[in-house]
Amino acid sequence: MSRITYVNGRYSRHRDAVVHVEDRGYQFADGVYEVCEIARGYIIDMTRHLDRLARSLSELQIAWPVDRDALVAILREVARRNRVRDGMIYIQVTRGVARRDHVFPSDATRPSLVVTARSSDPQTARAKAGEGVAVLTVPESRWERVDIKTVGLLPNVLARQKAKETGAAEAWFVDADGIVKEGAATNAWIVTADGTLVTRPADFGILRGITRATVMDIAAGQGLKVEERGFTVEEAKQAREAFITAATTLVMPVVRIDETSVANGHPGSVSLALRDAFFETAEKTPI
Ligand code: PDD
Repeated sequence: MSRITYVNGRYSRHRDAVVHVEDRGYQFADGVYEVCEIARGYIIDMTRHLDRLARSLSELQIAWPVDRDALVAILREVARRNRVRDGMIYIQVTRGVARRDHVFPSDATRPSLVVTARSSDPQTARAKAGEGVAVLTVPESRWERVDIKTVGLLPNVLARQKAKETGAAEAWFVDADGIVKEGAATNAWIVTADGTLVTRPADFGILRGITRATVMDIAAGQGLKVEERGFTVEEAKQAREAFITAATTLVMPVVRIDETSVANGHPGSVSLALRDAFFETAEKTPI
């Protein structure tokens, strides 16, 4: 079975799927994206992902490429055609194709829409969560509007690469005051000695993660206390537990920060319990 990708109204073989060389996503990173988890044949938290897409588009004054219901139909169709039961869907919308010029093109320019889907092995992810991952702290180097989910990800790419070169799975951006912001593609959390979950407020300065929101729902259901406040790298290193969240990792325990083991260097029970409860609590849209 060949992989199928949606590009601007057409379902093509993945290797034949192309966008124009003057697509503004390609030339200016003038576009936004979403990644949704697919688990056990359901699109996870789709409503929240599409609400965030709407916000990203509106902040950048990019029109919807198709209406929301049509997009939902495309997501399900791409997942179905690729027979994805567990994996992810990627949605990208750019300002469209126009002669290269920094200012916005004419209103007649249609936004470009690309949707891909791919399978992944839930067993592998589970095994990784059972071991936990390391993170590397790096100075914040991004622009201020990281609350918008744009495809301009070069600082994130460089940070993740640096992390990989030190044997870490994620990089944590740290602000000038030593406060952890978020990961290159995940939100950052700690669990304090008294069992409180702590994560940075998501007004500006980080992306308002969808997995983060669902973890807060789980915490509320389990009677766990959540504090939205900044925490330093030092506090994280001394924490009872640390973890990261994203549609691609769900709740992933962090067992090392730079050179320091978190607690006993094994995944914490709170992190693992949140991970176990995730599917049940999340919104599930059948493919
Ligand atoms: N990244 N912070 C950043 C900078 C991110 O890029 C992401 C998601 C998150 C977590 O958001 P969510 O829980 O909605 O996935 C936080 C996606 C998965 C990516 O770039 O692949």
